[in-house]
Amino acid sequence: MDVLAAARREAARTARMVRTAFLACSGGARRKAGQRDRQAARPVDGEPLLSLSQVSKRYSIGPVETEVLKRVDLDVGAGDLLSIMGESGSGKSTLLNIMGLLDRPTEGSLQVAGRDVSAMSDDELSDTRNQSIGFVFQAFRLLPRLTAWENVALPLTYQGIDGAEARERAQAMLHKVAMGNRADHRPDQLSGGQQQRVAIARALVVSPALLLADEPTGALDPNTGREIMQLFRELNGSDGIAVVIITHDRAVARQCAGNAELVDGCIRAAVTTAAPSASTEPSEGAGE
Ligand SMILES: Nc1ncnc2c1ncn2[C@@H]1O[C@H](COP(=O)(O)OP(=O)(O)OP(=O)(O)O)[C@@H](O)[C@H]1O
Ligand SMILES: [Mg+2]
Repeated sequence: MDVLAAARREAARTARMVRTAFLACSGGARRKAGQRDRQAARPVDGEPLLSLSQVSKRYSIGPVETEVLKRVDLDVGAGDLLSIMGESGSGKSTLLNIMGLLDRPTEGSLQVAGRDVSAMSDDELSDTRNQSIGFVFQAFRLLPRLTAWENVALPLTYQGIDGAEARERAQAMLHKVAMGNRADHRPDQLSGGQQQRVAIARALVVSPALLLADEPTGALDPNTGREIMQLFRELNGSDGIAVVIITHDRAVARQCAGNAELVDGCIRAAVTTAAPSASTEPSEGAGE
């Protein structure tokens, strides 16, 4: 196997995923210097931030059709902290990609702040993703040749914000995730936990109302995983950002106020408890 070619393909895949997840309409071409930021979609009067109704997803490979999601109903409200568990292959990433507007359902509808996504143009979809939803990938997906602050500034660049303003906002976000002193480091000069913090800062830099994280502690050791969970809880508690976390780790799920489980393509339970357990609880590690 040509390892170099495989590494190049993986780097190109990361660049594509990041661009899709954080790109704004027309690369920010509509934003003129000095113009105020466009307002992200915000729900009115207790309306869910994100609402999935009877969402199904089928994949066809040759004659074989797999129904990964079956008529899923799920609401995420402002300020929610929700975990989604499920066995490997149960459709968690598929569901999160649909919630993050990175993929479309085969059937069913999706509303963001009361607006039907299927009625949005491609530009509106990009803007909604860029401004309302922050996405944290399991494998960090930082661009290897950019420094920490440049990675964090990328979604701003896509909005047409660059130069000193982008650098200042990226720097402020790195401070928020306790990475202010690593702004000029490239990803390969950072530990896994530090890279995840940078990835979280990138997801937060445009002040999204909703943060979606696909197994954010899956690639981290238990202690680092606990620190990252603590950060998510702070962002949820102090800043009121709604957070949805895919996890295999029951200790992570117990720290969330709401817990859902994907079983055979259906959401089996979505329970909201009043008081999530303390973050000091020892992790059971990945796997169930
Ligand atoms: N692009 C695709 N084309 C065909 N099948 C796919 C595609 N993406 C996912 N699948 C299938 O959908 C099912 C669910 O995949 P998904 O990645 O959502 O699972 P998951 O719950 O996130 O698993 P894991 O815990 O291992 O990450 C799997 O059977 C997978 O093979
Ligand atoms: Mg997955």
